[in-house]
Amino acid sequence: MAEKVPVLSVQDVHKQFGDTPVLNGVSLDLFRGDIKVVIGPSGGGKSTLLHCINFLVKMDAGNIYLNDTRIDQSRKRELYAYRQKVGMIFQDFNLFDHLDALHNVMIGLVQVRKLPRSEARQRAEAELERVGLKDHMAKYPAELSGGQKQRVSIARALAMEPEVMLLDEPTSALDPELIGEVHEVIRAMAALGMTMLLVTHEIGFASTLAKEIYFMDGGRILEQGPPQKILFDAEQARTREFCSKIGRLNENSD
Ligand SMILES: Nc1ncnc2c1ncn2[C@@H]1O[C@H](COP(=O)(O)OP(=O)(O)OP(=O)(O)O)[C@@H](O)[C@H]1O
Ligand SMILES: [Mg+2]
Repeated sequence: MAEKVPVLSVQDVHKQFGDTPVLNGVSLDLFRGDIKVVIGPSGGGKSTLLHCINFLVKMDAGNIYLNDTRIDQSRKRELYAYRQKVGMIFQDFNLFDHLDALHNVMIGLVQVRKLPRSEARQRAEAELERVGLKDHMAKYPAELSGGQKQRVSIARALAMEPEVMLLDEPTSALDPELIGEVHEVIRAMAALGMTMLLVTHEIGFASTLAKEIYFMDGGRILEQGPPQKILFDAEQARTREFCSKIGRLNENSD
């Protein structure tokens, strides 16, 4: 029988900014339907890792494979095709302020996917409806709440039918009462079997979703394992210290 191939394989990624090493050999595999969560202290390299995976930041060494094909970042067409298959959700939503919600979702379908406008509109409407924004399609980002903006950004990513979603602290810029609506959308994606790599500090939410948690510090994955193990029974003192601190913070924010 053929070996199971990961959808996304990240192999030995290194990155430094100036003289400062930020990623020191990070490797991970995502199989179809996997949800893996990255936690770790500020400055540990989590965002840089996601940016390298999406080639928004050029890595110094390492390789990314999608379905066993190595992505060659010097080939622009390959990179565009790859970016359609690997969606990215940012902490600060990254919407176009001059476009309403509908057109924020349509733009990639028209300009990148080259769909006819009527088809793009239909798909964008369906995606916005899916994230509960049926009645807000004509609103501009300035007229939307943070939770609504993040849901537009998720609808935009989903419209491209990605194979993998990278989410970088999707709720950390939101007021506490808006976090739940974004979590609900992420849960719905999980229920549909979306493969996800999620950076978050919300360990309660993470542990209900994730198959595995990576604890990242100093540009390395120090420890990985099932949520219960990492959060409550970690092997490394550094992991235990971080998890107990973040656990207390989450309790206090309730
Ligand atoms: N474009 C850049 N130029 C120079 N240094 C950078 C750049 N981007 C990130 N860094 C540095 O790399 C390190 C890792 O940053 P990164 O944003 O990946 O951390 P993080 O784990 O996502 O932190 P946080 O939890 O605060 O989001 C930090 O020391 C940061 O200052
Ligand atoms: Mg970050």
